[in-house]
Amino acid sequence: TVTGLVDRFGRIATDLRVSLTDRCNLRCTYCMPAEGLAWMPQQQQLSDDEVKRLVRIAVERLGVTEVRFTGGEPLIRRGLVDIVAETARLDPRPKLSVTTNGIGLDRTAVALRDAGLDRVNVSLDTLDPVRFNTLTLRDRHADVLAGLRAAADAGLTPVKINTVLMRGVNEDEAPALLRFALDHGYQLRFIEQMPLDAQHQWDRHEMVTAEEILAALEPFDLEPDNVSRGTAPAETWLIPGHVDAAGEPARVGVIASVTRPFCGDCDRTRLTADGQVRNCLFATEESDLRGLLRGGASDKEIGRAWQTAMWGKRAGHGIDDPSFLQPARPMSAIGG
Ligand code: GTP
Ligand code: 5AD
Ligand code: SF4
Repeated sequence: TVTGLVDRFGRIATDLRVSLTDRCNLRCTYCMPAEGLAWMPQQQQLSDDEVKRLVRIAVERLGVTEVRFTGGEPLIRRGLVDIVAETARLDPRPKLSVTTNGIGLDRTAVALRDAGLDRVNVSLDTLDPVRFNTLTLRDRHADVLAGLRAAADAGLTPVKINTVLMRGVNEDEAPALLRFALDHGYQLRFIEQMPLDAQHQWDRHEMVTAEEILAALEPFDLEPDNVSRGTAPAETWLIPGHVDAAGEPARVGVIASVTRPFCGDCDRTRLTADGQVRNCLFATEESDLRGLLRGGASDKEIGRAWQTAMWGKRAGHGIDDPSFLQPARPMSAIGG
């Protein structure tokens, strides 16, 4: 009998990404409009207990070994620490991480660590507070930097920074951002922008490519890494002469979703804040687990529905296909 989340191409999903809210306290211009979006009504959102149950089913019955909480911005979900704590009590205990914009992390890093969180990834696109305001429409640059420090101090390591480079906006900052990360012992990853913005303004030709990013990092004399990417989206390079916070050789990552897609190695399954399974970041269809849950389905039935949802996963995102359709939900409601 099949027990895991297997698709028809033989990939097995062991990495669960759970979006805990579609809301955010920033307005990154590449993500959502200044006025925000039509937020998900409260009653459609899974309760803390519903989230915990679905995560338990994924871990106990479906072979999930890593759980990442995302948003929107997951730190604005009141129940986050409690959800993390409950997830950390599962057997076998999954690896636990959060992807956040960093705001409020200075106040919650220790509680999250104590609840069992292993590590965090923090988004940061600029070192310039003024530019940060233009990019996110909020005056919170100092909060993000404080969040990064608190995460490192709490041992939520390796602390990774996610940077989306944009042409004519912050592409000039690649070397400075890497120097900053090296100075503080954070691991920086540059991300190619993907067509997941609420405004549908993504343009292939505006995207800063992995090739351009690597060219901008030439002064660092990057060397090919000795560890392979595996199922992770980021390809990494070694930075000669530098070590990270743990004394390991320092690395920089590039997540080239568009120019070097890694769909063939994907091990991910996603749950939205309203309880829909997405078998791919770019899926155009979802499977409703909330309805089953609230309709009184058993763990076994929910597990089966989750398996069925994953079986239908497509081979790849097909961004370059003429028939490519951007998913109806934007990144902030999918969970990235
Ligand atoms: P690590 O386990 O720390 O390597 O995390 P991660 O890089 O997988 O997760 P994170 O939430 O930090 O996401 C970084 C970037 O990778 C974001 O832009 C995500 O949207 C993107 N990403 C995550 N999963 C996928 C995926 O399955 N496909 C694609 N194309 N991009 C993804
Ligand atoms: N393409 C690539 N990355 C994106 N992010 C948000 N929108 C996009 C996009 N369209 C990044 C955020 C965050 C991570 C979860 O995804 O900056 O670091
Ligand atoms: Fe918020 Fe992340 Fe979107 Fe920025 S990219 S507005 S931090 S959800």
